[in-house]
Amino acid sequence: MIKYTEMLKKLLFVILVSMLIACSSNQNAKVNSSNKIEALLKQMTIEEKAGQLNLIPLEGKISEEKLQMIRDGKVGNVLKSNGAQLNAMLQKIAVDESRLGIPILFQEDVIHGYKTIAPIPLAEAASWDLKLIQNSAAIAAREAAAAGIHLTYAPMVDVSRNPRWGRILEAAGEDPYLGSKVAEARVKGFQESNENANQNILACVKHFVGYGASIDGRDYTIADFSERELREIYLPPFQAAIDAGVASLMCAYSAYDGVPLTASRFLLHDVLRNEMGFEGLIMTDWSTIKNLLVIGMAENDTVATKMAIDAGIDMDMTAECYVNYIPYLVQKGLISEKQVDDAVRQVLKLKEKVGLFDDPYAYFNAEREAAELFSEANYKATKEIALKSMVLLKNEDDVLPLKTKKQTIAVIGPLAKAQKDLLGWWACMGDENQVVSIYDAISKKVGDNTTIKYAKGCDIDGFKVAGKDKIKQAVQVAQSADVVLMVLGEEYWMSGEGGGTASLHLPSAQEELLQAVAKTGKPIVTIIVSGRPYVLTDVAKNSNALLEAWMPGSTGGEAVADILFGDFNPCGKLPVTFPYHEGQVPIFYNYRKTSHGFDAGDNDNRYSATYRDIQNEPLYPFGYGLSYTHYTYGDIELSANSIVKGEKLIAKMKVTNTGKVKGSEIVQLYIHDVICSVSRPVIELKDFTILELEPGETKEAIFEITSDKLEFIDRNFKKTTEPGEFKLFIGESSANLKETTFSLK
Ligand code: BGC
Repeated sequence: MIKYTEMLKKLLFVILVSMLIACSSNQNAKVNSSNKIEALLKQMTIEEKAGQLNLIPLEGKISEEKLQMIRDGKVGNVLKSNGAQLNAMLQKIAVDESRLGIPILFQEDVIHGYKTIAPIPLAEAASWDLKLIQNSAAIAAREAAAAGIHLTYAPMVDVSRNPRWGRILEAAGEDPYLGSKVAEARVKGFQESNENANQNILACVKHFVGYGASIDGRDYTIADFSERELREIYLPPFQAAIDAGVASLMCAYSAYDGVPLTASRFLLHDVLRNEMGFEGLIMTDWSTIKNLLVIGMAENDTVATKMAIDAGIDMDMTAECYVNYIPYLVQKGLISEKQVDDAVRQVLKLKEKVGLFDDPYAYFNAEREAAELFSEANYKATKEIALKSMVLLKNEDDVLPLKTKKQTIAVIGPLAKAQKDLLGWWACMGDENQVVSIYDAISKKVGDNTTIKYAKGCDIDGFKVAGKDKIKQAVQVAQSADVVLMVLGEEYWMSGEGGGTASLHLPSAQEELLQAVAKTGKPIVTIIVSGRPYVLTDVAKNSNALLEAWMPGSTGGEAVADILFGDFNPCGKLPVTFPYHEGQVPIFYNYRKTSHGFDAGDNDNRYSATYRDIQNEPLYPFGYGLSYTHYTYGDIELSANSIVKGEKLIAKMKVTNTGKVKGSEIVQLYIHDVICSVSRPVIELKDFTILELEPGETKEAIFEITSDKLEFIDRNFKKTTEPGEFKLFIGESSANLKETTFSLK
């Protein structure tokens, strides 16, 4: 009898606990989602739920089969379908002809502009101007939102230290701090910076995580790095995007510690959800659920689907695994319906966020589309970003800016008349015919007293050396000119996705062409159009001035011309190191100290961490960039020589414009922890500010040092600070800094 009562008690306890769990999970769901969403969920069949998790590409191919899938409630999301009219038509089918009428969420790669194309993200990062970067994303959002897009696959925040990796152009470069600031600005720009809600779009931060760590520069290849690097280098920009409220996140193609991100419960659940606090939607990259079969992790689609949903993937981009296999997996009890419901809630939450349940057609306004796309205002604002993103790398004897006098200018090079190549790889709906080439922009700018001559110099035929026979004619053109403008670089498709290269020398015969032209002895200004840092060592030697114009977007040709003629004083600084030699790659400024030092000293000490054949230093360091004026830096003034945790220290630096034109200087602050329980980088960027200075003017750069700037990740991978001495540096680049010390008590 006693035994029976105890058993009953135990049973009751188990039932009670199960009820509590069930109750709490229901409550959780309610906290995160609205009544509307919960009501919808209750009505949905498992097939319709799986349909909401399905993201299909249209890419202009709208077959009857796809339309039927929409009618059947099997398509919750569409990518690569553009235009207010087209998307409204598809939306109408979803709303009027599917059983529950749930609207479609339209998604697109609006990476750096929709129709008015801004400079590539790497270039924008070179402006270090967060307001401008935010505005650029806001313009992109306005244009995309007017053309029927609700969500963009941006910002990409992959830190990369390898310019061979073609996708380096899509993010903010090599530094986690600058990368975090840019990530925050771009998320805000896309999601909340426009006045009206339906002018903003949802952002999707990508590619979680470590995709930029490709060991050899090839795309989709191995990224293998330590947990310390994961946490110190690759996660911070994602955290910044999350803190800025990013709505969704895309997983990388790559793997971490042998597990592809699509199947990594450790990274998606333990790290991203639990540690980093991400509450938005997690999607795969293109077909990565099916990739689990290709790389030998799953024997069939069903297993791969289970792996992905167990890892925490909410939305399936293009593999059509979720839509096809989720109903079966639930029916067999291999995954729970709760897992599916949670993922569906994520999708419906996004739809609710952009107001699709109030008005499914709010983003499809053909009139607004016509007025917004490539508007004069968008063009003007985008040009400002292009101007501020270009980096002057060399300016011997102030050869720039060019004088407007009676002269002959030779414009030479395979990129001089380029239009599409100025837009870059992710040009979305950008129209090359609307791009003014560098040659045309220069011709437009000069007066009647200037003669412009042109020679292509060589061809770019893939990576083959082509059109060398054109060099001779280019030399003749150069000989007849007072000054030569060389426009060199790469074509739009050479970097971007799948754009890995082994060589970092300018493709084709461009270096040979430059060398031949340089022999004329004429002053040479070289403009580089590229999506990545090239090894410009010989290019710099053969040029009197060198301007990195990147892939500058729709307004880039005019921006280059403005800079060449001094209508704008260049102010960009490198967000990524330019190597001296490609053997130095991966190369980055925030390397750790080594036991043997990086300097061989006067006695050429063999036992130092130096190359025996070339210099250690890059050609141009992180944070470097010249101006048409000059700045002098004072000494660092500290408000105290120590701080206590929780308090702050003020660091000040006087900067004077000693030149003849006004300019804008990016003042950078770096820190080094002198003694620490794990080895620390020699310097780490921790803050920066931009000073606008009239000729002769002095201003103070003022920085607040709070103890979070002194944090590091300890041996247990926890963020912490340790008391002791710190070095503080302020200056114009990572390689030109004033220094002082303080301590943390
Ligand atoms: C890329 C993503 C992109 C997606 C959709 C993938 O191949 O890696 O960055 O957003 O395609 O176009």
